[in-house]
Amino acid sequence: MPMSSGRFFTSRLVVSALLMLCFASPLGAQDKSQPWWRHAVFYEIYPRSFADSNNDGLGDLRGITSKLDYLHTLGVDAIWISPCYPSPQFDFGYDVADYENIDPMYGKLADFDVLAREAHKRGIRVIMDFVVNHTSHQHPWFLESKSSRNSPRRDWYIWRDGKGPGQPPNNWESSFGGSAWTLDPTTGQYYYHYFEVQQPDLNWRNPAVEEAMFDVTRFWHKHGVDGFRLDAVDLLYEDPDLKDNPVLPGKNEFGDPKMTNKYNDNLPQVHDELQRLRKVTDANGQVLIGETWTDNIDELKAYYGPHQDEIQLPMDFLFTTVDKRSAPGFRKQIGLAESSGGWPVFVISNHDIVRSYTRYGDGQNNDQIAKLMAGMYLTLRGTPILYYGEELGMENHDPVRKEDVKDPLGQQGWPEQKGRDGERTPMQWTSGANAGFTQGTPWLPVDPAYSTHNVAFESKDTDSILNFYRLLLAMRHRSPALLDGDYIPVDQDDPNILAYLRRSGKETILVALNFSSSSQPFDIGQATHGVSRAKSSVLLTTSSTDVTVKGDKHTILLSPYAVFIARITP
Ligand code: NOJ
Repeated sequence: MPMSSGRFFTSRLVVSALLMLCFASPLGAQDKSQPWWRHAVFYEIYPRSFADSNNDGLGDLRGITSKLDYLHTLGVDAIWISPCYPSPQFDFGYDVADYENIDPMYGKLADFDVLAREAHKRGIRVIMDFVVNHTSHQHPWFLESKSSRNSPRRDWYIWRDGKGPGQPPNNWESSFGGSAWTLDPTTGQYYYHYFEVQQPDLNWRNPAVEEAMFDVTRFWHKHGVDGFRLDAVDLLYEDPDLKDNPVLPGKNEFGDPKMTNKYNDNLPQVHDELQRLRKVTDANGQVLIGETWTDNIDELKAYYGPHQDEIQLPMDFLFTTVDKRSAPGFRKQIGLAESSGGWPVFVISNHDIVRSYTRYGDGQNNDQIAKLMAGMYLTLRGTPILYYGEELGMENHDPVRKEDVKDPLGQQGWPEQKGRDGERTPMQWTSGANAGFTQGTPWLPVDPAYSTHNVAFESKDTDSILNFYRLLLAMRHRSPALLDGDYIPVDQDDPNILAYLRRSGKETILVALNFSSSSQPFDIGQATHGVSRAKSSVLLTTSSTDVTVKGDKHTILLSPYAVFIARITP
């Protein structure tokens, strides 16, 4: 519908029929020369909480398989499954006791094979979470390592004498509170664990460790795994002299001294290691995604590797630190991601971060703001990773009493640190008991808002967050500009509206996002770089206002938190 006609379609949400009309004649296939993961939308599944097939209150692999059609129609191209390996579950699977099997609570290896096969049938790739930095204290490697100072596997972990009686080797702290060193009475030495006591760090300086871990990637290749999300990848190496970290003023949330992890985080050797790992995964066509917490864009940039030979998809967590609902803040961060020289990876929440619905919401317009955030991170140049339930507007549901906390982080840091249970509650499928997640007792309580925020309910509501995600993802998959086009910022100084063009040889898409709580005028003529007679077909909008045309000015009044996406035809 050309805007230059003076009026255009207005609605709170474009109905599917209209969108389908807009996309009835695709502009051409996506650029096939690009690797698959550039065009993919990833979806993180926390398996404990996704779908319970045997009603024991815990999600499982068969549960995931039963929901593949849902994921397919949502528009997901790859699933990343948080750890489902055998584990004593001290950190809910991030303490792996066997890298080459499935924990019985999730099913069997054969269930995984079915899951991978069924996913592939639907064009969905499967990514495993690879916990590279540490194992469980019950992994046979660690049991052997701790058995004696002379064990052949002693050097698979990091063992040191204390500085003196009762004194650990240095001042390094665990991110779960307290010292990062625990004394093992059997051999009288300390072992190092950046995370929990039950998560001893592997010694990647030992070539046998490296080879054993590389073999894990080969094992999963045989089971159809298309790539890995590398857990805590910045922590693989430690300073061999174990120098003390610099101490900062003040205390952290556990009451320990604040410090910078100068000697046990982000060491240069991490990058050499990643280059070696990349060769192994490349040989099997597997992609690497990084859990790459960084302090600045240069650190993030380094993870792509000097020759784009490290991690293909390092997650940009700096994006999650931008001030809530700040158009200038996001504009700046997107600009930085664009400058990194690599392919950006956008996430707005995950199993360690308070859910985006809660973090960005203002308490009154949360659904609208959830669509605004989706309108942004699903239309940027890069690969988005959705967290399960984000497409429904799932909220964080934190425990209120310490005795209800399951996450060790919350147990140790309560009350200042409530832990991560809030972002891990069961997926909301229906308005029925336990949100349709289980007929048993769910391991975490379901968020009370599930009665209106669930798959069944939202599927029937054309104005729901879920249907908005579906429309956005359908649009993204069919738009060469959104898939491969350049990112061109417009209105650089607008304090309220974040606007940009996505332009490929074949197509130009305009995205305008009103980050403010009041209606804001937006001049489309200016945004389209003075293409005065630009014609625009609205593809998707949540704005309820009309466009007005005055001469060459095509101004739209964007309603609070509105998303406006149009195709521009010069
Ligand atoms: C990062 C994971 O995302 C988090 O959930 C876990 O606790 C730590 N790594 C330790 O594996």
